[in-house]
Amino acid sequence: MALVDTKKMFEMAYNNGYAVGAFNVNNMEITQGIISAIAEEKAPLILQISKGARSYASMSYLRAIIDVAVAENPDIPIVMHLDHGDTFEICKQCVDDGFTSVMVDASKHPFEENIRITGEVVKYAHDHGVVVEAELGQLGGIEEDVVGVSHDEIAKHLTDPDQAVEFIEKTECDSLAVACGTSHGAYKFKTEPTLAFDVIQKISEKLPDFPLVMHGSSSVLKEFKDLINKYGGDMPDAMGVPESAISEAAKMAVCKINIDTDLRMALTAKIREVFVTKPGEFDPRKYLGPGREAIKKMVKHKLNILGCSGKAAECM
Ligand code: G3H
Ligand code: 13P
Ligand code: ZN
Repeated sequence: MALVDTKKMFEMAYNNGYAVGAFNVNNMEITQGIISAIAEEKAPLILQISKGARSYASMSYLRAIIDVAVAENPDIPIVMHLDHGDTFEICKQCVDDGFTSVMVDASKHPFEENIRITGEVVKYAHDHGVVVEAELGQLGGIEEDVVGVSHDEIAKHLTDPDQAVEFIEKTECDSLAVACGTSHGAYKFKTEPTLAFDVIQKISEKLPDFPLVMHGSSSVLKEFKDLINKYGGDMPDAMGVPESAISEAAKMAVCKINIDTDLRMALTAKIREVFVTKPGEFDPRKYLGPGREAIKKMVKHKLNILGCSGKAAECM
């Protein structure tokens, strides 16, 4: 099966109370780890590529890797999605490159400007048969050196449900990333966080059947943080989004859940372990291989948390 867009998977996820995992890919091992988990679990998949991934691996290499994944898994619907496109130009480039879904993230701009940029991307993408995710509100804690952000600070930037209605009417985007208390990276919260489920609930009451997206959804798994620190790393204690909160959001209007940090940590933990326990090792396959295997195991676990295991067929 060729690459698909998100329409059918979001419809099924919305109606059946689960969410599709959106995993960031930057190289072959990360992609293979994710794909082998998906193939075993028979889950729908969104592979997302950031601007940084495009410039690190180059689009032609990433595209070739994804083409192999699609060809080898004809029974799995796979979306190729741009993560956090911050200008019209990058979104247009990805539409032209054959992405089936793009995210325009103009959330750092004032409301009217966000509407203008998003509307421009929607027009171009829809004319080319590509769906658009937009963002309204601001995620907390993007500064990588700050552990956690106060609840008051996060609350100020949560998505306003009334604004969300106006934003979607005016831009005609296909899904919306909302700020509901999550944040990007490994240093999210000092203590167990409470997500703003009331924001998700209010938006979904005002916009029935409209798919929402949750960014910053890594759980910062203790298993990997401990391994990283045991083998010479230095990651401060911080908490991610609890998996119970992920499951709860997935049962609501949240149809796409973004995970990158947990992949990075799984790979890093295993590479560090090999470097320390086998200091003579210099064959990249001997440390990237265990990293790829750890990603597979972790993604399989996530698919069960999201509730999308076994759902590939109904999303075709
Ligand atoms: O939300 C951001 C993703 O984790 C991608 O990060 O821009 O460093 O590739 P990146
Ligand atoms: P994490 O940093 O929590 O993995 O979030 C990833 C993300 O939102 C990608 O868009
Ligand atoms: Zn994100």
